[in-house]
Amino acid sequence: MSDHTPDTVEQMLALKRDYLMPCVFHFFRRPMVLERGAGSRVFDSAGKAYIDCYAGVGVSNCGHAEPSIVARAAAQLGRLAHTTTIYLTQPMLRLAEALAGFIGGGLRKSFFCTSGSEANETALLLAKLATGRNSFISLSRSLHGRTYLTSGVTGMAFWRADPEPPSNVHFAPSPTCSDCPLKLSRPDCELRCAEAVGDLLRENPGEIAALIAEPVQGNGGINVPPPGYFERVQTLLHEHGALLIMDEAQTGFCRTGRRFGHQHWDIQPDMITVCKALGNGLPIAALVATPAVAAAYTKPGASTFGGNLVCASAALATLDFMRDHRLEEAAARAGERLRAGLLGIAARHACVKEVRGLGLMLGMELVTPAGEPAGPLLDDLMETLKDLGVLTGKTGPGRNVLTLMPPLVITDAEIDQVLRTLDEVFAGLPLRATVSA
Ligand SMILES: Cc1ncc(COP(=O)(O)O)c(C=O)c1O
Repeated sequence: MSDHTPDTVEQMLALKRDYLMPCVFHFFRRPMVLERGAGSRVFDSAGKAYIDCYAGVGVSNCGHAEPSIVARAAAQLGRLAHTTTIYLTQPMLRLAEALAGFIGGGLRKSFFCTSGSEANETALLLAKLATGRNSFISLSRSLHGRTYLTSGVTGMAFWRADPEPPSNVHFAPSPTCSDCPLKLSRPDCELRCAEAVGDLLRENPGEIAALIAEPVQGNGGINVPPPGYFERVQTLLHEHGALLIMDEAQTGFCRTGRRFGHQHWDIQPDMITVCKALGNGLPIAALVATPAVAAAYTKPGASTFGGNLVCASAALATLDFMRDHRLEEAAARAGERLRAGLLGIAARHACVKEVRGLGLMLGMELVTPAGEPAGPLLDDLMETLKDLGVLTGKTGPGRNVLTLMPPLVITDAEIDQVLRTLDEVFAGLPLRATVSA
């Protein structure tokens, strides 16, 4: 097939059906073919522009095809693409140093790999090595990956291909106040969801190696925990000799208005995992641990593409861009603008149950008049938004949370355009779904 004869959408759907596994799904009834990106925009094969409010699931934080990142990755690709970790290469080592500086605190030692699943899998392994224990706590409504163990610690049935979690995984209730799994409300609940972690630690004495959690649950529907939750959980874990692993796949690299999501709370995780935005589109991930925990990983461990020269060069350029552009402050500012606009829309439409999130990680939960998750309504809305040039995401156990995670370089004018488009689409929703206030 020549590069000059682009496939049609129908041809691509046929290729997908015939040659990809059925688990590989796509958004939209009438999908487009994306070909190029620049900043906060992507362009399809017909040249139509879209404001990308999903950033490839929170990946392109510095913007698509950011020239300073492209130049450094391309230069490295032209020199030497790959050697693996059995040889010394400068980009990986400089990246480890830069990452420790960018994160701060006591997290200094990195293990590089290529995906969030692999980073989390390694974190669970290291927790076992460091504690000598073999059980884990995770939260309901969490997502931690696609591999056997990381899908096992994933708290959402939707994302668990094997419905049976391993027997050494225990689930504590997600700290989601808008829809509390314990049917309690603040402040009377006295953080019962955190105390449930203590219950599991006591019921399994000497067995729990670690708790793994996202600082803000992404796929679970953009769930921000209540103040004090993670502080209490960390205290309980450490009292029982267990470790805290924070999965920063979506919350990392300035998205929430801080460099990392856990930095919103007064905690010091023993390990964090990072992936997605680290390479701004190139596949690179890392487990970063305190030296004390990292010291347990002494047997040879190599990931063929871990710290790959091209990906590490892109990641170094990504960190430089984030620091030079103070991207966490940009995300906080832009997030406030977007949130204010979303709250305005929510006030006019009863189908919006809640707007929530931190920085530029925002969710808008949609419900039916009976208060049930309005998944089909969200599907319609996303399709129309796409037709009008705005790409959004979808999260939540009920697949009913409109999710906005644009590149952090999104401009005020682009945010306003997104809000105008959303307003227009909400105004056109069927009356049974919307009730004007
Ligand atoms: C919180 C979280 N952890 C882990 C993963 C898995 O990352 P990957 O797809 O790179 O394996 C994801 C992917 O969306 C995620 O959102």
